[in-house]
Amino acid sequence: MPAYSSFAYVIVLIKAAVLHCLRLSPTATLLDLKTAVFLALVRSSTSNLKPGRLIDCQQDSLRDVDVQERIYLVSTKLTLAFETNIIAIAFKAIRNLGDGQESIPDIKLPSVSMEWICHRPSSDRTASDTDTPERLYATMMRGVKNKTTILYFHGGQFWRMGREPRRITHELSRDTGGRCLAVRYRLSPQNPFPTALIEGLAAYLYLLYPPAGSLHAPVAASDICFAGDSAGGNLAIALVQLILEITREGSKNASGRLTWDGQERDLPVPAGVSILSPYNDLTRALDSESNLQYDIIPARGPPFTTFDPCKIWPAHPPRHHVYANDNALMNPLVSPVTAHDWSGAPPTWICVGEECLADQGMFVAQRMASQGVPVVLEQYSAMPHNFSLLIPEVEASKYSKKRWASFICSTIDNPESITTEAMQWSGNPLFKTKLNISKLVPLPLESLKEKMETQIKEWGSPPV
Ligand SMILES: *[C@@H]1O[C@H](CO)[C@@H](O)[C@H](O)[C@H]1NC(C)=O
Ligand SMILES: *[C@@H]1O[C@H](CO)[C@@H](O)[C@H](O)[C@H]1NC(C)=O
Ligand SMILES: *[C@@H]1O[C@H](CO)[C@@H](O)[C@H](O)[C@H]1NC(C)=O
Ligand SMILES: *[C@@H]1O[C@H](CO)[C@@H](O)[C@H](O)[C@H]1NC(C)=O
Repeated sequence: MPAYSSFAYVIVLIKAAVLHCLRLSPTATLLDLKTAVFLALVRSSTSNLKPGRLIDCQQDSLRDVDVQERIYLVSTKLTLAFETNIIAIAFKAIRNLGDGQESIPDIKLPSVSMEWICHRPSSDRTASDTDTPERLYATMMRGVKNKTTILYFHGGQFWRMGREPRRITHELSRDTGGRCLAVRYRLSPQNPFPTALIEGLAAYLYLLYPPAGSLHAPVAASDICFAGDSAGGNLAIALVQLILEITREGSKNASGRLTWDGQERDLPVPAGVSILSPYNDLTRALDSESNLQYDIIPARGPPFTTFDPCKIWPAHPPRHHVYANDNALMNPLVSPVTAHDWSGAPPTWICVGEECLADQGMFVAQRMASQGVPVVLEQYSAMPHNFSLLIPEVEASKYSKKRWASFICSTIDNPESITTEAMQWSGNPLFKTKLNISKLVPLPLESLKEKMETQIKEWGSPPV
């Protein structure tokens, strides 16, 4: 680990262990020693480490980790060689929802890479690496018990692949008895907004209306639940807002309707959306400093300033965030906290830790609930950003993942059973405290927008 000496790490390690064992740290009764030390090291490296060049870190994150034995993995690629207006229609939605100030780069979308992921029972020894995708897919489908299809978006601040992207998709497909299609969207800063979002839309349409030659048969929208963590949580919920806006526009203007694979198509909402620690406000205007003690992500401030220059970052023209130009950060499809209208959105599950991004998730939950969307908001006390992926073995993580899978099943099998509620889970063993969902973040949308503007101004000039 460059520029941050191993000696410093040893100090962090010893300090964390001592505080934990003396029960002096706030999480001493919730975490085991190993997890406490692990989190202290992650925290220390994210705030002290000089990360090097962004392009190298990005490359590093794309290295394929070994596919676990218990997973079926079938890579698939959608080539957009047919007639479709999804890019034009998405740009229309971005403009409709925005303030007219945003500069949005043109994009091209020749193809979208995805992978089917599904649990593989230990009894199956038939699948082999040399199988054709068709054969492997057919073998996988024999193990799929339920119709549940999860469309998953990984996290990683939009610029890198997730650390263990296949673990959560495997677990969710296993625990729902269904299958998962994970979108390997193009990364920023090379492919900024709206590339990943439109790739998500294309992946959803691929499920609904597979073009000839696809591995799968058409999937009903009522069998699809979106899911994601962190930046992937942003993409999943932003995609819902994009679908709502395309539908609103299409109902006003017949020539604004969607064409896909040469045919005019409906764009129904999915059965549900379920997200962990969503990165819903790219300015982090709602951050709560008191949550820093539990979190692994550094305090807010100008983002992406610690990288050494490389050919992809800083960007030209300069901007603060890898994902979008400064003047587009408040667009609801970039920062979904600013969305006005969620009516018509499907049942939604938002799960957060006691983390810096907690209020970003809560704000969206509160707004959705106020507009009649069935929303379940859960906060896990003293847990960091992304906790159930980062520290999967602690009680809060195991429990929240069970609830995640069970929510996904409900959106498909029994959506009427989902009722709006907000709760906090604390302690060990966990106990539940009800929260009032209309009082999670006592701030009107207009005041939030002002805070976001202030935040961007306080960042100063972007890195050059
Ligand atoms: C969230 O956790 C996953 C799994 O560890 C990781 O891939 C992703 O990068 C994390 N997101 C952030 C912002 O750290
Ligand atoms: C599959 O769905 C049924 C209800 O339709 C549910 O009872 C069952 O638990 C699900 N299977 C798994 C593995 O979750
Ligand atoms: C209807 O949609 C088309 C295609 O997006 C656009 O060119 C036209 O200006 C729209 N008309 C109105 C009245 O908004
Ligand atoms: C939640 O807060 C709202 C707004 O203050 C209030 O009207 C409502 O009665 C509260 N609900 C519960 C269950 O306490």
